[in-house]
Amino acid sequence: MNHNILEMSPGVEASNTGIKNAEQLATSVAASLADTYVLMVKTQAYHWNVVGPLFYSVHNLTEEHYNDLFKAVDEIAERIRALGYPAPTNLKDMVEISEISEDTGNTSTEEMIANLADDHETAAKRFRKAVEIAEENRDVVTADMLTARMAFHEKAAWMFKALLTK
Ligand SMILES: [Fe+2]
Repeated sequence: MNHNILEMSPGVEASNTGIKNAEQLATSVAASLADTYVLMVKTQAYHWNVVGPLFYSVHNLTEEHYNDLFKAVDEIAERIRALGYPAPTNLKDMVEISEISEDTGNTSTEEMIANLADDHETAAKRFRKAVEIAEENRDVVTADMLTARMAFHEKAAWMFKALLTK
């Protein structure tokens, strides 16, 4: 990360709830938020642009997923606030810290499915790190939330891989 996207705003204070390193934790939750946000946008774009025999499956599955990701963005951002940190306000920062791969355009339906399978695995890996940091900080609330998100990404990766299996 080039700069701290969680710079404290005036009047914002870290919560005093016994978390050892709230800033490190909030930063890793913010990275999870960025991945969720960028993946939501990409998922919706694929929902619009998918064509071919798998249209119906991919169109419907991506709709289910972007709705879920949209709700998750809100939940994750509010957890950052509950930790006492400001939620990121700049889309550019989110794109910068996200590890979700950028779509290069002219993407075939098979490539869309393979990209989303990879992206959900990438997100699950990042969330796993964030869960470790939450556990190190004995923050079971954040660990639980991120664990549930990890389950979503693992399931989504499986579904996209299954769609590609001949
Ligand atoms: Fe739609």
